[in-house]
Amino acid sequence: MARHIDILEHPQTAIEVATVTLAEGLPIGLPTETVYGLAADATNPTAITRIYETKGRPRFNPLICHMSDLAMAERYAVFDLVSRKLAEAFWPGPLTLVLPLRPDSGIHPLATAGLDTVGIRVPQGFAGELIRAFDRPLAAPSANTSGKISATSADHVDDDLGERITLILDAGASIVGVESTIVKVEDGELRLLRPGGLAASEIERVAGKPLKRRKKASAAIEAPGMLASHYAPGAAVRLDATDVSANETLIRFGTPEIAGIDKAVAVLDLSATGDLSEAAANLFDFMKRADATGAATIAFSHIPDEGLGEAINDRLRRAAAPRE
Ligand code: TXA
Ligand code: MG
Repeated sequence: MARHIDILEHPQTAIEVATVTLAEGLPIGLPTETVYGLAADATNPTAITRIYETKGRPRFNPLICHMSDLAMAERYAVFDLVSRKLAEAFWPGPLTLVLPLRPDSGIHPLATAGLDTVGIRVPQGFAGELIRAFDRPLAAPSANTSGKISATSADHVDDDLGERITLILDAGASIVGVESTIVKVEDGELRLLRPGGLAASEIERVAGKPLKRRKKASAAIEAPGMLASHYAPGAAVRLDATDVSANETLIRFGTPEIAGIDKAVAVLDLSATGDLSEAAANLFDFMKRADATGAATIAFSHIPDEGLGEAINDRLRRAAAPRE
């Protein structure tokens, strides 16, 4: 069983125990505003290997390196003008920038899967303070078994990985609820590698140029972890449902007309008022709760693709994708 430390009640103990654990090369469950991370010293190959092993994650899928602030990030990566502008506008926050790695940065190639770029993010709140105290970047994927639903609470982390890690810091539910938006500037163009907790329109407003999406038909994987089945609950997932049957749990958004709703195993409201931020914050927890109802299928009503809806629909398409 992993030790839990509540960071609101015991912030100093949390920093002390976490820095000692990280210095031993062990990964910890770390709260961030997006989702909980499985965090370890990005400069320590043993520690990074433990992240991949704990998650069962393929090693060709690089990890995001978390920094305390822009000044720290500049020690590890080279910023172009647009990336710096985005960092200044949105850090700390749910934005990851993919940037050229500085030679001799000290970030271990296992963290970047040998690429000459690195994904960097400055998380809000406690995680940033911990990194400042530790004074090294923390590599941190979401704290869940690879392919499963991301963790947005300390209990989620414990249920999934508690037997395999020693420490989970507890900050309650993650406020954003979906992972960071990943962006890369390439040949002067701004590319969206993963929609996430920062709406694309916000990024376009600050950058003053459009974000280029991946072509849906392209087989090539942009951010390597980005394709096919992921975020998968035990139950099957059905999208854009306008009706529901007796072996299904319904997760709805707003107040849509759903035929046969009285037959559903259970009904959960992502946001009764149709608020996409509230829906994002509830998404992964509700997927787990719907799974626990024992329904064969989780049916989702339609969710609009604007704002955070783009990230929500991205995760839902992966959750609904054919499994191996
Ligand atoms: O909100 C988040 O981003 C959370 C929290 C913990 O910070 N982290 C997270 O990490 O979602 P993970 O490992 O589940 O997703 C990282 C994604 C993967 O799709 C990976 O392929 C991509 O980032 N990535 C990392 N470095 C990259 C690079 N150099 N080039 C392209 N994609 C990269
Ligand atoms: Mg993940």
